Amino acid sequence: GAPAEVDIGQIAPGTLLTAEWRGRPVWILHRTERMIAQLRADDARLADPRSQQAQQPPYARNATRSIRPAFLVATGICTHLGCVPVYRPEVAPADLGGDWNGGFYCPCHGSRFDLAGRVFRNVPAPSNLEIPPHEYLADTRLRIG
Ligand code: FES
Repeated sequence: GAPAEVDIGQIAPGTLLTAEWRGRPVWILHRTERMIAQLRADDARLADPRSQQAQQPPYARNATRSIRPAFLVATGICTHLGCVPVYRPEVAPADLGGDWNGGFYCPCHGSRFDLAGRVFRNVPAPSNLEIPPHEYLADTRLRIG
């Protein structure tokens, strides 16, 4: 399919835009400084903190899984059975057990992912969210695909 081009200039910090590429949702999350600081590669609760098993391009194989730390670009499809997880950016919400720094929650079977789309241990999803191929054509212009 053709690449998708997205203007990311209007995405306020802390908010998520859903684009589409090849008929699938692609999230673009504008992470705040606080959100970036909360991404801990040594978090023992993560199943694959360094994304060694994840589907992602080589330029996303880093601590924030991104080209630019402020922007996560990820396929918004749970790696378990394909539901669309819900963006839950708040810290320690009661319904997620309180032990939560913000991320994505899959309502189908309870899989959890952090703000870099990395899956937590002991959930049904087998791997981190996929990062699609992408590049920045300009500061506010993203191409997916
Ligand atoms: Fe997401 Fe099963 S489809 S947890």
